[in-house]
Amino acid sequence: MTSDMSRRGVLQGAVALGTLGYGPAHADDARHAAVAVQPDNRVRKSMTAYIGTPTSRIDGRAKVTGAAKYAAEFNVPGLAYGSIVASTIAKGRIVRIDASEALRVEGVVDVLTHQNRPRLADNDSAYHDDVAPDGSPFRPLYDERILFNGQPIALVVAEDADIARFAASLVRVDYHEEAHVTDVHRRRDEAVPLELGKMFGPPQPRGTPEAALAAAELRHAGEYYVPIEHHNPMELYAATAVWEGGGKLTVYDKTQGVQNVQRYLCGVFDMKPDDVRVMSPFMGGGFGSGLRPQYEVVLAVLAARALERSVRVVLTRQQMYGIGYRPAMIQRIELGANSDGTLAAITHDAITVTSQYEDFHRQETGWSGLLYKSANAKYAHGLVKLDLPTSCDMRAPSAATGVFALESAMDELAVALKLDPLELRLRCYSDRDQTTDRPYSSKNLRDCYRRGADAFGWARRNPEPRSMRDGTELVGWGMATGVWEALQMSIAVRIVLSANGHAEVSCATSDIGTGTYTIMAQVAADMLGLPLDNISIKLGDSTLPQSPVEGGSWIAASVSNGIAATAEAVRNDLLRLAKRMPNSPLADAAPDEVALEDGKLVSRRDALRAVSIANAMRHGGADRIEKEEAITFAHEGPYAHNVHSAIFAEVKVDEQLGVIRVTRVVNAVAAGRILNTKTASSQIMGGVVWGIGMALHEETLVDHHFGRVMNANIAEYHVPVNADVHDIKVIFVDEPDDIINPLGIKGLGEIGIVGVAAAIANAVYHATGKRVRDLPITLDKLLG
Ligand code: MOS
Repeated sequence: MTSDMSRRGVLQGAVALGTLGYGPAHADDARHAAVAVQPDNRVRKSMTAYIGTPTSRIDGRAKVTGAAKYAAEFNVPGLAYGSIVASTIAKGRIVRIDASEALRVEGVVDVLTHQNRPRLADNDSAYHDDVAPDGSPFRPLYDERILFNGQPIALVVAEDADIARFAASLVRVDYHEEAHVTDVHRRRDEAVPLELGKMFGPPQPRGTPEAALAAAELRHAGEYYVPIEHHNPMELYAATAVWEGGGKLTVYDKTQGVQNVQRYLCGVFDMKPDDVRVMSPFMGGGFGSGLRPQYEVVLAVLAARALERSVRVVLTRQQMYGIGYRPAMIQRIELGANSDGTLAAITHDAITVTSQYEDFHRQETGWSGLLYKSANAKYAHGLVKLDLPTSCDMRAPSAATGVFALESAMDELAVALKLDPLELRLRCYSDRDQTTDRPYSSKNLRDCYRRGADAFGWARRNPEPRSMRDGTELVGWGMATGVWEALQMSIAVRIVLSANGHAEVSCATSDIGTGTYTIMAQVAADMLGLPLDNISIKLGDSTLPQSPVEGGSWIAASVSNGIAATAEAVRNDLLRLAKRMPNSPLADAAPDEVALEDGKLVSRRDALRAVSIANAMRHGGADRIEKEEAITFAHEGPYAHNVHSAIFAEVKVDEQLGVIRVTRVVNAVAAGRILNTKTASSQIMGGVVWGIGMALHEETLVDHHFGRVMNANIAEYHVPVNADVHDIKVIFVDEPDDIINPLGIKGLGEIGIVGVAAAIANAVYHATGKRVRDLPITLDKLLG
């Protein structure tokens, strides 16, 4: 690893070897020492009592009864409450902060600013978390500089949350203001080009794209726009820093990565790992906004250390718009087609936005050349720096936006070719990763197209725009392809098996709402041959075995295979004990010949040769078996790993008013072996709802005069509500994969949104004959 890589920590070192959203295809570092987990499918396939079955969340009862505690719900005696004062200018510096009036309010304990705060680290690397982009990370309450509107500049701490918030309104701030820019359209010509083939940069070109485009039978070029969007998780960002005395802290933080936050806090406050434990047992939605440590945790810890007491900081809904966001993206796609409906060339140019201080971007353009067969492809990506906070990952970062443009452009090409849009996709179908020219470990997108189209009734589509009606409404049918990476990350899992047949399974991963608790329990129950109820799961605690942040849809595959590896170690220990029993029926059995089933060690050759776990442990004098295994995955193998989907959408558009309803969506997904069809369907359904929002509703509006978000609330930032969501059908196609990992698992937290906005935009075109290339598709754009 280069020093750059090690500075970035475990996560980026590993993701650098991914292919698209999280890393370039040809990452020039074969330095990731990886030991691939060996598939043992003979073992696995017989053991699926729970894996694959629709299982209700094991934490569901705790969540609906309120027993599940979130970061702002951990109460301790003497807790103080912090309220954030945010800057009202976008750029400049603080000249004076007058907290005297706030300090006079009864119940106010202190007002912390850059002038009176305790010491914070003074170098960028201390603030550089596992998923930080290049640049100089934001330092809350560090100095007088203002980098974005809404920046935290003071923390009012009081005995009560309402007093703190009231007193925060009394803090007076004088600024020296400087000119700011928050409008990507004003800066697009000054976008800084990203280097090709570098980490998160656009891929290298292939073939001779210019010549191929010039020679193409038919060309389509279009510019597409996706605005800034915010994650809007239901739970507000919050941290409760519990002062344990002697400088030690337990921090309950809303985060997708407790160990990332712990390392970060150790850097920022120069603390030792033993001095700070970070917990996040439950999370009310993250969607990427909690991959990096957010400033609430810095402020809570800062105040706790300053006051030597426990402090809680909760962001307001408005302040939730002062953290990361999905970068606005201007994209130009050009497709050259041969007359037979195959692709001759693809070019994809993108501009995305970031802050003035960090260069966040993903490989947004690479999806185009990956997905469809085309000998020629070329990419460009420029970064526009604005006076806003740094943009960040948001559900299917880069693909949700990049594939919107690609799949809109493919639809436009199909229209120009007078070809059914699904037929065009089939003619361009690729069985190889086009960017790296590798076969897939599995790719069953064909079945997604087939089964999705059947379920939707696609064959009955009249290709003519405006040809289908339902009363006063125009009916449109559109489709699109989705693609995401199937990533997996180094992870460790501990299992403690008790003689009574109960197992505790632990890992520092989060469950960001995806169902991680539940799938961990299902996998552990199957691998240990125990009933689901005998399994308890511990996660979201920095003291547990190592985990990356939960993101990139990589936790399900990673942690499940980690559980399988650790369960194997438990089995081996049990077998050693069983062999010592007098006349042991397993005396000659090799570990691989023995499975754990129904509370027993059982010979795979002869099911009558078995020893119960209880007997083996009793004879061996063991009341518990504790094992911890760490696994890594080979990233640069001969195969590409992706998940795919086919989305079919129906819209009904009121002809007079332009009101659009998404009446039906079928999303057919190929994502390897599905661990839990119930929670998996929920993930895809949630992704479709996000796609509806992206297509029709979501847009963060910045008043460029003030450089401030205008609609920083869920009344004016529109997300789909129940009335916007109609019939959604989720299909999982079979996609056996003996190569990717022993359990054949791919993740699916993110694929659900990819392609949905394009399918809806294409349906709107089919309904109305009007092509809207900038999102969201609001009725004024249809009527205008
Ligand atoms: Mo996801 S955007 O990696 O939480």
